[in-house]
Amino acid sequence: MKPYVILISGRGSNMQALLQARLPGQCVAVISNRPEAAGLAWAADRGVPTRIVDHRRFPAREAFDATLAEEIEGVGGELVLLAGFMRILTPGFVERFAGRLLNIHPSLLPAFPGLNTHEAALAAGVRLHGCTVHFVTSALDSGPIIIQAAVPVLAGDTPDSLAARVLQQEHIIYPQAARAVLDGRCRLESGRVVWDDDATSADLALRVPAQ
Ligand code: GRF
Repeated sequence: MKPYVILISGRGSNMQALLQARLPGQCVAVISNRPEAAGLAWAADRGVPTRIVDHRRFPAREAFDATLAEEIEGVGGELVLLAGFMRILTPGFVERFAGRLLNIHPSLLPAFPGLNTHEAALAAGVRLHGCTVHFVTSALDSGPIIIQAAVPVLAGDTPDSLAARVLQQEHIIYPQAARAVLDGRCRLESGRVVWDDDATSADLALRVPAQ
């Protein structure tokens, strides 16, 4: 079973979805850059090893990322799943884990990179919003896309109601994408996402739930 690590900064609901999905791999650590991240206790209660690499104790991003990489490699992590990990990673870190670093972003990328995506979607008046699991590259929120899920924007939506609808889909597509990468059915080759089986990828790659 391939060892993987989950990186969080807060609540950790995507981490929970990943751990509850019984992925074909072993979670060797949940690592947080914030000691107060609520997800740490949830993981520890279930016997998953947890670690803290507090970014505030490092003078620069490079030093933080170097220690984070050492922690990941120290526990034998081969795949790294960013799950609400609120730090921008340096190109050196991204390069070190190229093809082995996944992120979930709460928008249909390339629309609305960065923060406050639900506010931005409402302000733009889009009718479809959603979430994206992608391989991480050094450009923020823009790596090759593995799976997306779309949800409608409904009359009367607030950022919170829209976030809740998107989050439900995050919890479905992140485990699906992580499973496909852990199985080796999906990988990054020459900067593109390659699936072993086109039919599976067509089924999985875009999720539009019935309302
Ligand atoms: C999620 O919306 C995720 O897409 C974004 O940050 C949020 C983290 O939520 N990157 P949680 O910590 O997984 O509950």
